[in-house]
Amino acid sequence: MHNITLIEGDGIGPEIADAVVRIIDAAGVKINWDRQSAGLDVIEKEGVPLPSRVIESIKKNKIALKAPVTTPIGKGFRSVNVQLRRELDLYANVRPCKNIDGIKTPFCDVDLVVIRENTEDLYAGIERKIDDDTMEGVKLITRKASVRIVKYAFEYAKKMKRKTVWAVSKANICKLTDGLFLECAREVAKDYPDIEYKEILVDALCMQLVQNPAKFDVLVLPNLYGDIVSDLTAGLIGGLGVAQGANIGIDCAIYEPVHGSAPDIKGQNLANPSALLMCAIEMLKNINECEAALKIEKALFKTIKEGKVLTKDLNGNATTTEYTNEIIKNL
Ligand code: NAI
Repeated sequence: MHNITLIEGDGIGPEIADAVVRIIDAAGVKINWDRQSAGLDVIEKEGVPLPSRVIESIKKNKIALKAPVTTPIGKGFRSVNVQLRRELDLYANVRPCKNIDGIKTPFCDVDLVVIRENTEDLYAGIERKIDDDTMEGVKLITRKASVRIVKYAFEYAKKMKRKTVWAVSKANICKLTDGLFLECAREVAKDYPDIEYKEILVDALCMQLVQNPAKFDVLVLPNLYGDIVSDLTAGLIGGLGVAQGANIGIDCAIYEPVHGSAPDIKGQNLANPSALLMCAIEMLKNINECEAALKIEKALFKTIKEGKVLTKDLNGNATTTEYTNEIIKNL
């Protein structure tokens, strides 16, 4: 029996979390889910969006599966996601991005991994009001965090037998901040002579990703560029419904999809649970449930390839429940 923290989130979160729990259960994996709520609804009852019980649960279990949590735009509380990553020092955000047989996209040979620094940059939320018409934000980049994330990217490349690590920056303009990131990347690269090291500016990367994504392999980026680029790369393989991710730290890991809480389709039984399911598959591999992980993966890919029962975002007309039932049938 595994003890795993489950954050069901809000918006479509509870619907996709329910689907994934059902599929894992049907595959025969015994998990004791430690269900922890966080976000807007929790504020009303407990006064804060991320109560300490959530952090304690993840620290105890070391592993969490997390559905999305809404963050108010422009005002309101600080992102639960950012806080979780900060409090648990989940410094590496890993987002593999590979074509899936059966999902038609303009490209058929995408196979890359976005590795995003998760703790600093403009995402640290260091902002202040100078006056009503002027706001200021700090882009914080440190040597410690940059070296750590680039090392992670090279170690990942080594472990996964990848050939090239691309350091992505805007160091031509942000000479000090992105300049430091790049300096660290060059230093770390010297320790990995068997892996090719390349550099690209983030704007050039965006253009080339939509022209020839096959040329890219492992991409390592500061936080904000990583956030934006990973939505772009999700689009290359069929959209947010199939884009998985994980936040990795030294002691703990939180597996969560790239997408958000999709308030526009909340409660309509339309959400695609595949991204969260793919996160769960990676999680199962990590807790030595490889056989079950591969069985679920096969059932998921079979369902998508057959194309008979697909959610709306994949050009089908099935509900979340029907799609989940089909995956369970294919197990
Ligand atoms: P979003 O990812 O929630 O939605 C963008 C579009 O993709 C929407 O049209 C949505 O319906 C669609 N979509 C997303 N996931 C889908 C799925 N599984 N199946 C089918 N369609 C899907 O991005 P948006 O609207 O910018 O953000 C909504 C909220 O989510 C915001 O409060 C944001 O801060 C939060 N968010 C939370 C994240 C997390 O908890 N890790 C990550 C990203 C955003």
